[in-house]
Amino acid sequence: METRLAKQRSPAPEIWAIGGGKGGTGKSFLISSIGNYLALRGKKIVLIDADFGGANLHTFLGVAKPRVSLTDFLEKKVPLNDLVVESGIENMGLLIGAINSLGPDDMKYTQKLKLFRHIRQLDADYILLDLGAGAHFNTLDTFLLADKKIIVVLPEITAIENSYYFLKNAFYRQLLKTLGAHGFKELIQDAWRNREAYNITSLSQLIDYLRSVSGTLEDMVNRELAGFGAHIILNRVTTGQEVVIGRSVKSICKKYFSVDAKYVGYVEHDPIIPRCINKRQPFMQACPGTRCAREIEKVAENLLHGKDMYTRV
Ligand SMILES: Nc1ncnc2c1ncn2[C@@H]1O[C@H](COP(=O)(O)OP(=O)(O)OP(=O)(O)O)[C@@H](O)[C@H]1O
Ligand SMILES: [Mg+2]
Repeated sequence: METRLAKQRSPAPEIWAIGGGKGGTGKSFLISSIGNYLALRGKKIVLIDADFGGANLHTFLGVAKPRVSLTDFLEKKVPLNDLVVESGIENMGLLIGAINSLGPDDMKYTQKLKLFRHIRQLDADYILLDLGAGAHFNTLDTFLLADKKIIVVLPEITAIENSYYFLKNAFYRQLLKTLGAHGFKELIQDAWRNREAYNITSLSQLIDYLRSVSGTLEDMVNRELAGFGAHIILNRVTTGQEVVIGRSVKSICKKYFSVDAKYVGYVEHDPIIPRCINKRQPFMQACPGTRCAREIEKVAENLLHGKDMYTRV
């Protein structure tokens, strides 16, 4: 049964978004499982399937595809809180991206801003956004909306490359958006488009260049960098050696993008996971206490506390 969640609570919810560029890395599985864990801990969660056009998050929870979606908000102006349906898990509501023809290209700029404003006003402690694959600008903007930006990486080179590409594009877009609002858009675009002439080969060098232009710009860039903070989850790990790949991804984020990332943990590969999904059983409910369930709990705790898995307490 679809229910309306209670109106207005404070303080404002914290928004987490999970992305990473490559398809099939486990974004939907991980965010639904993290949401499930947080809900079990008594946090009020709204899980949003922001895979505009490819909504399948309900499958991970074992519930039927909701009859209402963001399309009703965008096209029929139904309040967002009214579109949050039961997820089958206590304390967790579900809001799905789109059930009609809406694809990422179909959302207008003004619709997007309105949607983002209303997402921030949803009644929840945590709003978890599951993004689709790729680095479409609407996907990047939804990622940038989040207070905690999470990327899922697999221990394989193509997935790692995709995550760098995704993060690089996201941070570049963030710079354009915030510094652009202060009249620096053309300066950034010019330097990046003509990077050979400027001797710029990486985003990190673009950042250094912008910092050298003026003290004001340096302060603004530093503020953006400090606020960006990506969180890395390594999924489908099969050996102990692979665990350290998360740490390498983190170092590379620093070296090439100047972005401080936290490696919040890894989850092993376990064939029981697709079996659970195929049986339409939420993994954290069906397999509590398994190694993967415990690893997901650890990841969720590290995210809650903003902690790197290698940080000693
Ligand atoms: N740790 C894991 N061990 C084994 N299988 C996994 C693991 N994590 C995810 N999977 C499987 O990988 C498949 C893809 O997962 P999922 O749909 O969550 O990826 P995604 O990143 O959301 O994909 P898309 O980009 O298409 O939305 C699922 O069938 C899931 O069962
Ligand atoms: Mg997905």
